[in-house]
Amino acid sequence: MNDANPQGLDLQNIGKHFTMGGEELHVLNGASLTIAPGEIVAMLGPSGAGKSTLLHIAGLLDRPDTGEITIDGQACGSLGDTDRTRIRRTAIGFVYQFHNLLPEFTATDNVALACMINGVSQKDARKRARELLEILGLSERLEHMPTQLSGGEQQRVAIARAMANHPRILLADEPTGNLDENTADTVFDALITLAREEKVAALIATHNIGLAKRMDRRIVLHNGRLEGQPVSG
Ligand SMILES: Nc1ncnc2c1ncn2[C@@H]1O[C@H](COP(=O)(O)OP(=O)(O)OP(=O)(O)O)[C@@H](O)[C@H]1O
Ligand SMILES: [Mg+2]
Repeated sequence: MNDANPQGLDLQNIGKHFTMGGEELHVLNGASLTIAPGEIVAMLGPSGAGKSTLLHIAGLLDRPDTGEITIDGQACGSLGDTDRTRIRRTAIGFVYQFHNLLPEFTATDNVALACMINGVSQKDARKRARELLEILGLSERLEHMPTQLSGGEQQRVAIARAMANHPRILLADEPTGNLDENTADTVFDALITLAREEKVAALIATHNIGLAKRMDRRIVLHNGRLEGQPVSG
């Protein structure tokens, strides 16, 4: 890794505002962050601080007003939509608070479809899906439909789907926010295990301080900027 061409996820001086009813709301004001491959970072900050906004920008779902996003050495700011979509599909995994699984497909197919969108054969995609679901403790649930799975199991399928294409970056927006404490722990363990195994650079927004303390590093979004937080904090 060198500074000019950082691997993992690098955000520099990200600014973003929204205009609502003639009022300008400056949500991000020069947020900067570097996450190395294999590093798992918790993003804390009160409701409305801009965590989801920053994750959308890092995930190339939205464009910032200022700043640069570099993903595994590739600067993304000046890229057109086609290239951004390709990077999003191949290099970025996203986990949301609500799993967004396709209701008419099994657990295996929900994961396999993510690979097949990238041109992987059905056979290889299903093999990758089974491998991930087994790591996540779902080997007895491969052919279950989403409605036949518990909330925690559904969320583990969503994590498998996010990791299906061997992403370099994993972005998660309150991935356990919708689960009870014990289930959140199990799902979080699964997420961490997989993130470490695949050496992704992971940025995870959470309101759960206990889970945040188990990650490698904590940062707080405050006044539109990212600040480090000591472990004991
Ligand atoms: N598309 C939009 N148009 C106008 N304002 C927006 C838009 N998206 C977000 N905002 C505003 O930006 C601010 C940050 O929102 P964001 O969803 O990023 O916060 P958050 O930190 O994720 O909060 P939470 O912890 O509640 O999920 C909020 O005040 C929100 O109202
Ligand atoms: Mg949010």
